[in-house]
Amino acid sequence: MKALVLTEYNHFEMQEVPVPEIQADEVLVRVKAVGICGSDVHGMDGSTGRRIPPIIMGHEAAGIIEQTGEAVTGWQSGDRVTFDSTIYRLTDWYSRKGLYNLSDNRQVLGVSCPEFKRDGAFAEYVAVPQHILFKLPENVSFEHAAMVEPVAVALHAINLTSIQVNDTAVVGGSGMIAMFVIQLLKLAGCGKIIVFDLDEDRLKLALKLGATHVFKAGDNNIPAEVKELTNGRGADVGFEVVGNTPVLKTVIESVRKGAQVTLIGNVSANVELPLQMVVTRQLKLQGSCAICGEYEPVLGLMSDGKIEIGPLVSAVSPLEEGAAWFNRLHNREKGLMKVVLIP
Ligand SMILES: NC(=O)c1ccc[n+]([C@@H]2O[C@H](COP(=O)([O-])OP(=O)(O)OC[C@H]3O[C@@H](n4cnc5c(N)ncnc54)[C@H](O)[C@@H]3O)[C@@H](O)[C@H]2O)c1
Ligand SMILES: [Zn+2]
Repeated sequence: MKALVLTEYNHFEMQEVPVPEIQADEVLVRVKAVGICGSDVHGMDGSTGRRIPPIIMGHEAAGIIEQTGEAVTGWQSGDRVTFDSTIYRLTDWYSRKGLYNLSDNRQVLGVSCPEFKRDGAFAEYVAVPQHILFKLPENVSFEHAAMVEPVAVALHAINLTSIQVNDTAVVGGSGMIAMFVIQLLKLAGCGKIIVFDLDEDRLKLALKLGATHVFKAGDNNIPAEVKELTNGRGADVGFEVVGNTPVLKTVIESVRKGAQVTLIGNVSANVELPLQMVVTRQLKLQGSCAICGEYEPVLGLMSDGKIEIGPLVSAVSPLEEGAAWFNRLHNREKGLMKVVLIP
């Protein structure tokens, strides 16, 4: 099969490689669409140490089952599917408590690190265990289904946040994940959804997708603007969707006393925390990791047309052009959001 292989850091080759062999509980999926994730772009240059070459990356994908292992039940060749980006063991202590996103020794598709290597979906075929599969509703395209993962990351964070109808939310960042946080906050019944980012084009898009107020970071005193919009109190809930000190600080300063701040951004290993503001205002800080049960509801929202995917797909392109798109994303080309590749 053909595959886009990261042969060394910052270097891809389209190669002819063997079709993956499936285990008894696995299916072989013919990949029809696969998204380039920010973590793939950061992995490509070696900065995260999570894509040690050679590796076939790609964990946001959808396709058609081509072949099933002998122990597979309930899935057939021809089924249109997507799958979880992580492979967890069902017998793990956390999985058995329903917290499979926290299970030990979880593997991520398309990642190679000192602990494991698991080829992903920038290829004609990928092997995945049956317990991470989800059936696609008929009216959800492969291109859109390749975006279920980032939507589900956003929904997991929303599900971990206590939100009341007409609450005011403040969202730090209007990147890919934040665009879904914004749409889901609207669905969750928030009244005002206040968003800040450095990128004005992204803020304009955020307004189209449900933000009620947007502010350019740096040019505005955002906590003061939020207080102005909330009878002097601050927002009821906050989301950090960038992963740096200035954004975390601004979100913490923009929420009211007793509020919950949910943390999604994780590009920095460490950030500064305004400790006294958190303690004396009795804030609740909630980390949100990956996805735990959100694939199916997201597919339902997509099928019902309740979540907009189209405006966030910048390009749909053949897998052969993947290396060029990786470079454009790495160079932070303006206006680029999600790029979906078709093997
Ligand atoms: N918790 C999880 O499970 C999980 C899953 C996926 C991604 N993430 C993390 O979520 C974060 C967002 O991911 P993404 O794919 O949406 O990234 P993205 O690059 O699309 O978005 C980041 C946004 O942050 C903005 N930004 C950067 N610095 C800023 C500043 N000082 N002030 C205001 N805005 C600023 C950028 O302009 C951009 O719009 C990343 O940290 C990523 O690692 C977490
Ligand atoms: Zn991802």
